[in-house]
Amino acid sequence: MNILGIETSCDETAAAVVKDGREVLSNVVYTQIPLHQPYGGVVPEIASRAHIEKITQVVGDAMKGQSVDAVAVTYGPGLAPALIVGINAAKGLAKSLGVPLIAVNHIEAHLHSPFIYDSPDDAAAQLSDPREIGPMLGLAVSGGNTVWIDMPEYGKYEVIGETLDDAAGEAFDKAAKLLGLGYPGGLKIDRISAAYRERFPNEPLVPFPKGRPRDGVTALAGLPAELCVSFSGLKTALLRHVQQNPSLVESQEGAQDFGGYDVTPEVAHVVASYQEAIVQAIADRTRAALRRSSYKAFVLGGGVSLNSRVRAVLTKVCSAAHVPLLMAKPKFTGDNGAMVAGLAFYRRNVSGDAALCADASPSLQVGLA
Ligand code: KG4
Repeated sequence: MNILGIETSCDETAAAVVKDGREVLSNVVYTQIPLHQPYGGVVPEIASRAHIEKITQVVGDAMKGQSVDAVAVTYGPGLAPALIVGINAAKGLAKSLGVPLIAVNHIEAHLHSPFIYDSPDDAAAQLSDPREIGPMLGLAVSGGNTVWIDMPEYGKYEVIGETLDDAAGEAFDKAAKLLGLGYPGGLKIDRISAAYRERFPNEPLVPFPKGRPRDGVTALAGLPAELCVSFSGLKTALLRHVQQNPSLVESQEGAQDFGGYDVTPEVAHVVASYQEAIVQAIADRTRAALRRSSYKAFVLGGGVSLNSRVRAVLTKVCSAAHVPLLMAKPKFTGDNGAMVAGLAFYRRNVSGDAALCADASPSLQVGLA
């Protein structure tokens, strides 16, 4: 069964055709990053307009030469004006093609991304049917979400931990802005940090806070405190550090190439320290989450899951816990239509006539329907 997946929840206009939930036959992603760069973040109105301008071309390119048996679309969570564009395109297309429409959850789709492949050599191509693996622990970590999810069986989801404020990607992006590295910051911080640590492997890092709950606090927002994370203290600590060391952002003297970016060794040191705090916060909560059940796999998806240090540290965490780590192929970590089409083969949050009436759900919870 070939499903066309459409994704417009944030700043990527994306569409893909996926066979039987796993094999990616086409995958088209138009990223709007250059449009949002001058504003240092995603502007919903600009995102919506750009989706409108690009959706026909992106979907047309994804469908070229493919037969389509159903159309799937993300209906939340995400930016309402952006979601609406994909939902309306999907409704029109499903009607005109005379095929069913399926609406799915964006976070659940990120957790399907480790199962999709576009080459027989991909690790995902060797995996068994996700319905045969369970229970699984999932982590969706992106610009909009940082959430640990218990999946007792495939298609059943319960949030067991999450960020109490910013998502990890947001924490990366805000730090990059503060340090004058531009938007988005995740990839730059990743590359600068890797280059710095290679050049100065023994240099102690700035001990930025790791977002842990206060001693004695056992529950936060109705979730176990050991599985919750907060990045606001880390951001404040970085701001204070910059205020106490204004030359960090005022002078470029002595800048050198770190991972393809010209920054001073002092800035690279702060960047690597900041990244390490985020990575250790994620690793710490993952370790605690893995202790809660005898998981058969840990699935990792979302834009931040591309981070080389996140991948390396979580590989060690999973290996110590004897739980296989299933990571999305780099090209499927960020928002894409293939994860939407893939998930829709297994799970239909909303389908049939209800899907044709589905509305954008900006704060959609996982595990509904
Ligand atoms: O999944 P995604 O494309 O969109 C959302 O659903 O948010 O994730 C985008 C986020 C941005 O915050 C970006 O800075 C971050 O992922 N990101 C990274 C890396 N590549 C992208 N963060 C850390 N390291 C990376 N290599």
